[in-house]
Amino acid sequence: MSDLDTSTSYPLHIHHHDPNAKYDPPQHLIDNAHVKSFDQYQQLYQLSVKDPEAFWSKLAEQFHWESKPTGQFLNYNFDIRKGPIYIKWLEGAKTNISYNMLDRHVKNELGNKVAFYWEGNDPGDNGKITYNELLVQVSKFANVLKKLGVNKGDRVAIYMPMIVELVICMLACARIGAVHSIVFAGFSAESLSDRILDANCCALVTADGVWRGSKLLNLKSIVDRALEICKDKGKPVDTCVVVRHLTPFENSNGVYTEDSPDECPVAKRPCTKLKISWSPERDFWWSDLMHDASEYCDPEWMDAEDPLFMLYTSGSTGKPKGVLHTVGGYMLYAVATCKYVFDLQPDDIYWCTADVGWITGHTYVCYGPLGNAVTGIIFEGTPFYPDAGRFWAVIEKYKVTKFYTAPTAIRSLMKFDDSFVTKHDRSSLKILGTVGEPINPEAWLWYHKIVGNENCAIVDTFWQTETGGHVITPLPAATKTKPGSATFPFFGIVPALLTDDGKEIVGPGEGYLVFKQPWPGIMRTVFNNHERFEITYFKKFPGYYTTGDGAKRDEEGYLWITGRIDDMVNVSGHLLSTAEVESALIEHEAVSEAASVSHPHHIKGECIYCFVTLKEGETFSDDLVKELTAAVRLKIGPFAQPDYIQNAPALPKTRSGKIMRRILRKIAVNDRDIGDTSTLADESVIDLLFKLRPKDA
Ligand code: WT7
Repeated sequence: MSDLDTSTSYPLHIHHHDPNAKYDPPQHLIDNAHVKSFDQYQQLYQLSVKDPEAFWSKLAEQFHWESKPTGQFLNYNFDIRKGPIYIKWLEGAKTNISYNMLDRHVKNELGNKVAFYWEGNDPGDNGKITYNELLVQVSKFANVLKKLGVNKGDRVAIYMPMIVELVICMLACARIGAVHSIVFAGFSAESLSDRILDANCCALVTADGVWRGSKLLNLKSIVDRALEICKDKGKPVDTCVVVRHLTPFENSNGVYTEDSPDECPVAKRPCTKLKISWSPERDFWWSDLMHDASEYCDPEWMDAEDPLFMLYTSGSTGKPKGVLHTVGGYMLYAVATCKYVFDLQPDDIYWCTADVGWITGHTYVCYGPLGNAVTGIIFEGTPFYPDAGRFWAVIEKYKVTKFYTAPTAIRSLMKFDDSFVTKHDRSSLKILGTVGEPINPEAWLWYHKIVGNENCAIVDTFWQTETGGHVITPLPAATKTKPGSATFPFFGIVPALLTDDGKEIVGPGEGYLVFKQPWPGIMRTVFNNHERFEITYFKKFPGYYTTGDGAKRDEEGYLWITGRIDDMVNVSGHLLSTAEVESALIEHEAVSEAASVSHPHHIKGECIYCFVTLKEGETFSDDLVKELTAAVRLKIGPFAQPDYIQNAPALPKTRSGKIMRRILRKIAVNDRDIGDTSTLADESVIDLLFKLRPKDA
């Protein structure tokens, strides 16, 4: 086509990467691994999808079940044309997840094992808790909740920093059958109140405040405002429990203020002068309530299909969805994925950097590692405090063996000199995981070479809040990996790629990623809105669970997640993913981060509009735009050539670090009506990006 001529000269500074280069599992993992070869994976996989009952009932044997299933092991309808969608695993079986995370291990003489090391925001601030101690604390807080009137089935909101009490609180809810609804402690008062109201929570557990890097968050004041909103809307929350995290001393009003002492002998650091207000009829200090709580609390025997927790995830259309997970299936899936994907062994020191406020933290900070009786780490801080070597310093300090973080963290850390990594001893590391977004090969290779010293398996794990645990992922001792590919399905997962009209693509190709049958960890409903559940995940392609992501299958059967379908761009009839374009841009030496969105085009239908964040010391210029354009042409093909590339000193992101493409699409078309910005981490980038739009756009 004449408007897509290929005469642009080759750009400089592009790192070429062969997409079919494969990395073998490290030899040192293989002998002792749970799955030692790709053949073994395939055999187990076949069993898991052909006879789910045989496969999962074997894994279920390690847990304590108070009674057996009364009905079918698996009972479901995935086809909306045949009636309502439902998924039930082990219905009628009775168990308790806190019992399986704690009592079971204590009975197996693992009580003195460290369950968690706690690493505070300040490097000198740390602690640990054994399985024995955790059981005692969980039992005590479970009794506290009961005393406060929390019953089985009630929802408890949790808005807490990354401290041990957060996990204690989750497990205490689970022990008495209350449903926890954790809201990431970076959400605003309004977002918090929305979620409390939607779930109709009877109580809220929080902390006074927290330091994140050099930023102080007064959580209690955010909570006060959120609860004010709940009250104004006619649904007051009667009970608020507050952990004294920063304010160990009180004045005569029971509140830590400017007048309180300066020194905190417990934490060996200056006390934070945090002003908090107190509503005596509503607010309770955690420590006061725990003081005389009993150390014994019988677990509530729950039906496998009783709700365990709900967690809100943003919907493509605004209002967040309360994703609901149930006790039995989630437990099986969290523990199984954690065991196989991180090849957990008894002596592992396992660190997932995610905040427990997200699903990754639920499954891979709390339930997965505890269910496997390994030692985990709860990290309160940030990757950049006190400097950009913090992750690697913590790995050295605790001799971390399995490490799990997000591509966005990797990309932001690789901007710094490699010496931030290499000055720390990382020889304990065996497996490095990533999650949350597609990882560009450049970041993958940096993670592998610099962080992993070419001696670790990289597991790029694709999954969602909705899936409960990993669904597409390598197994570290069995799967040869390709940088940027999440590789193959986990046990029990039957993926398919569909065309827009719902036909399955056989062999290589690109399409909508769907799953054909349920796995134990799949969500069961959207809280209080089963119809939304059915419409969001089961309507577009009847008979399948729709992920909302696109994926590509290559000649060797590897799956490559290409990004959300709503981020797909159709250029002149070619469906391509914005992630693909971004990956090409990021490979350019000058670029540290990139985002691309669809932009209407009078001839092609849609075209690509890119935002690029440059590395320190680089300058944006017409020549750079030419180089970047050529880079995309070279990597994907002339049809993928971006029409617009603009300078973006920063990108609009959610507090969890997800780029808000919805807003970028508005900026791309110069539409100032950008909609809801409540999940935006930093509003100021928006104006700047409007100012920097290219003149011809
Ligand atoms: C969406 C789910 C569940 C983990 C945290 C995010 C994207 C997640 C990958 C990956 C490519 C990924 C998908 C997915 N995603 N992991 N390894 N490669 N994309 O949970 O907020 O529910 O987001 O994150 O688009 O649908 P979430």
